[in-house]
Amino acid sequence: MSIAEKFLTMEYGPAPEDPKDALLWLDGHHRKFGHFIDGAWRQPIEGGFFDSTDPSTGEKIATVAQGSAADVEAAVQAARNAFPKWQSLAPHARARHLYAMARAVQRHSRRLAVLETIDNGKPIRESRDIDIPLVVRHFYHHAGWAQLLESEFSGYTACGVVGQIIPWNFPLLMLAWKIAPAIATGNTVVLKPAEFTPLTALAFAEICQEIGLPPGVVNIVTGDGSTGEALVKHSGVDKIAFTGSTEVGRIIRRATAQSHKRLSLELGGKSPFVVFEDADLDSAVEGLVDGIWLNQGQVCCAGSRLLMQESIAEALVEKIRNRMGALRVGPPLDKAIDIGAIVAPVQLERIRRLVDQGIADGATCWQPQIEMPSRGLYFPPTLLSNVHPTSVVAQQEIFGPVLAAMTFRTPAEAVELANNTVYGLAACVWSESINVSLQVAAQLKAGVVWVNCTNLFDAACGFGGYRESGYGREGGREGLLEYLEPSWFKNASVIPASAGKPDDSAQKQHADSAIDRTVKLYIGGKQVRPDSGYTFEVRGQHGELLGDAPLGNRKDIRNAVEAARKAASWSKTTAHNRAQVLFYMAENLSLRQEEIARRLAAIVGEAQAAKEVAASIERIFSYAAWADKFDGAVHNPPSRTIAIAMNEPIGTVGIVCPNDSPLLGLLSLVLPVLAAGNTTVVVPSETYPLIIGDLYQVFDTSDLPDGAVNIVSGYASQLLKTVAEHDDLDAVWCFSDETNAAAAKSLSVGNLKQVFTNEGRAIDWFDAKQGEGRWFLQHATQVKNIWVPYGE
Ligand code: NAI
Repeated sequence: MSIAEKFLTMEYGPAPEDPKDALLWLDGHHRKFGHFIDGAWRQPIEGGFFDSTDPSTGEKIATVAQGSAADVEAAVQAARNAFPKWQSLAPHARARHLYAMARAVQRHSRRLAVLETIDNGKPIRESRDIDIPLVVRHFYHHAGWAQLLESEFSGYTACGVVGQIIPWNFPLLMLAWKIAPAIATGNTVVLKPAEFTPLTALAFAEICQEIGLPPGVVNIVTGDGSTGEALVKHSGVDKIAFTGSTEVGRIIRRATAQSHKRLSLELGGKSPFVVFEDADLDSAVEGLVDGIWLNQGQVCCAGSRLLMQESIAEALVEKIRNRMGALRVGPPLDKAIDIGAIVAPVQLERIRRLVDQGIADGATCWQPQIEMPSRGLYFPPTLLSNVHPTSVVAQQEIFGPVLAAMTFRTPAEAVELANNTVYGLAACVWSESINVSLQVAAQLKAGVVWVNCTNLFDAACGFGGYRESGYGREGGREGLLEYLEPSWFKNASVIPASAGKPDDSAQKQHADSAIDRTVKLYIGGKQVRPDSGYTFEVRGQHGELLGDAPLGNRKDIRNAVEAARKAASWSKTTAHNRAQVLFYMAENLSLRQEEIARRLAAIVGEAQAAKEVAASIERIFSYAAWADKFDGAVHNPPSRTIAIAMNEPIGTVGIVCPNDSPLLGLLSLVLPVLAAGNTTVVVPSETYPLIIGDLYQVFDTSDLPDGAVNIVSGYASQLLKTVAEHDDLDAVWCFSDETNAAAAKSLSVGNLKQVFTNEGRAIDWFDAKQGEGRWFLQHATQVKNIWVPYGE
């Protein structure tokens, strides 16, 4: 046999990583851990302990504490006490702590990689070469942000105490994604790792001690979902950051709705992996290995739906099968293993159940004949082909090494199939044509699109979802904003519940009648009568009757949403064109300035009315200016790739306007939404809905496409319900009182739409620092990162 032949037929021998350091560390703690609170190990106050096991052997590794509400209380208290000092620490001093964390993780990288692998079951190659290096990079990068915070985020302040709940698939990496931006921006943290994988978080707690992090800045409470629930519900927590299942994301959204807690959610995915006929198929197959078999497919952004152009489907499947036959499944500490163990029996059971269901739905199941370990929790790499797009395996997250394959004919069909999901976390596009790739990438509804590459991450590039994959970003500038809020907003006073609300006795509902000034709803560029046929009286400052406003209902909102959806061309028009339309709008409002101010005076007084119309014209000018300047960025991650961060519109936004400043308040919300390319359904101020009459003339004469703005007047709290619940609206902005802010959050849980509210706080719309600019534009957009490799 020649050397070459020998080389090709050689068997792999065992190549286990040495676990000694990690085991010594565990033994040093007698394999039993309490919580890490206020810089010290604490025995659980009430809860007991549970075991953390190695999924590749079923053996117990260590015992950890089950956090109770009392433990969470102690941790939140420690974080609260630590917050003022940590927040006021000089940025440079905070930066040094993060820098020290990065160095310490590097120093302990082997221990951390082994702990991760034995606790989670992932191959050591991955924990050593992917997870830990990314953790290190995250702390270094955010040490830099801590240093630059004051100059780059002036006017912003930390949220306070942050509760962070992370999953088991990338335990230490998710910890880094959560803790680094939170503490870099001056927040303090209570983090709960997943019950299956608490060990690296506990090792990280020791790193906090080692580098001299002030006690209470980072607290780690272990436990299951009930511990997470206690953290979510704790009134001393200002923000919750969660990564995990969409189901739990919904529960958390519901649980936080009645509070002022900020919330960011990174949830599930069913990411498409689209291969065009001109793709380099061998590269695509290697991409697929990383896309679906990384971490046994237990990856939220796994490329779990393979969409192949019909002409190459057969050849590609052949190549995939060959490659699958060469994958090695086995003990994850072995350095030559591709696929390790599934994290827990319940997850293995779920994978089996879903694959069976896929087969029952008509899919063809193929698994390579490869050697499988005799014990431990393993599932072979699996290809399901002939999958129907509506099948459960094409729609639900399997979270296992299972690929569901489908075919398409044209790029348009590929986009349609790719977007045929409630999720929107990530996508891959494989084509040698950069034009096709970028054209398709732009149309995919996903927070990350990898072109000719897959599963690349970097601390500088935001990661997060569209639609039911959640909202908020981790990484990059946008990730930091999740942990900051405008200083003025944090201190703004709460609007008294009844302020500005119409006086019921003054507002009588009656059948449409001829009063001097009756306005109509504005839907699809037309003035339409309300479905109910009713109007309500609008009275001035002194109780005088000013006119009748239409009493909109659910049906009117639905019609408005339909009209807004049809006006999607607005999002496709160039930013330059949008700017032109807004400038034109400002001009048209200027022409009618006096007349509008005269009418508005009846409700807000002459002085404010003149000021308000003038400020409104200025505001339109501002957003006309912004329309072509709120650009994204190009990141340079430490790989031969560029990541293009695009600020994309969210879609259709429902807006409930404030009662004060009926014109300026409305425009301050509608304009950023329009400038960013969204369409909108607006519920105007209840006190002065007659403003519609002035606005539709301005809109009509400004070249705004029909349906880009739709206005439905009525009782805000009633219309808000339809707006918040409507599944075809992508976001709801509610700037009324506290009750409505809470309702906007709780009623929109269904499709997890993004919610932006004033939390019932007063905003001075006349003050441009409060009422206009980036804060609004950031909420009117979502960042999509498109990764493009370069070089041979
Ligand atoms: P999960 O969403 O239940 O767990 C994630 C974290 O949330 C854990 O720390 C857990 O203790 C905590 N948690 C559970 N219930 C909670 C509650 N009511 N309040 C607060 N925290 C709570 O995910 P699970 O059950 O481990 O996995 C089930 C499925 O979820 C997976 O098969 C996968 O489809 C999906 N998943 C998605 C992840 C992602 O990264 N997007 C990560 C983990 C799971």
